[in-house]
Amino acid sequence: MICIVYISSAKLGLTYGEILNIVEDSRMNNEKSGLTGLLLFNSGNFMQLVEGAESAVDALYRKIEKDRRHREVKLLLSEPITHRNFSNWTMGFKDIEKLQEMNPEILNSFLTDELNFSVYQKNPYKALKFLETFKRIV
Ligand SMILES: Cc1cc2nc3c(=O)[nH]c(=O)nc-3n(C[C@H](O)[C@H](O)[C@H](O)COP(=O)(O)O)c2cc1C
Repeated sequence: MICIVYISSAKLGLTYGEILNIVEDSRMNNEKSGLTGLLLFNSGNFMQLVEGAESAVDALYRKIEKDRRHREVKLLLSEPITHRNFSNWTMGFKDIEKLQEMNPEILNSFLTDELNFSVYQKNPYKALKFLETFKRIV
């Protein structure tokens, strides 16, 4: 198995409904291809972790790279794994801005890391840690 993490920017004008469609379709597809992971959205930017069989992850990443609903897709990390980190999630989805509006105190006490996804290009392992904190946030 492998795990990848990438960041991207939503295309201009992408609606919240379109994002929810991506999540819904992803959950159905990922279930079939044995993929799990987490998609984060914050102020127009995505960060996604996908894990599963190498061939399935590679095939999905090739589609994701070409998807016109976002741009500037940058791979931060791709590495072999022995166990899944998000085994319960066919594709978790967290909108950080919405979470912050709903529950600022709780979220801010969890999120000690940087909210600007682009800084994780310099430190991909920090991105992993950042993604993992969302397992504890309902
Ligand atoms: C930010 C983002 C995340 C996506 N995540 C997934 C995903 O986890 N699983 C998935 O099947 N498609 C995902 N997609 C959609 C794929 O790019 C693609 O449209 C989808 O896999 C269907 O491709 P197909 O119709 O060629 O099979 C994502 C798209 C975007 C923009």
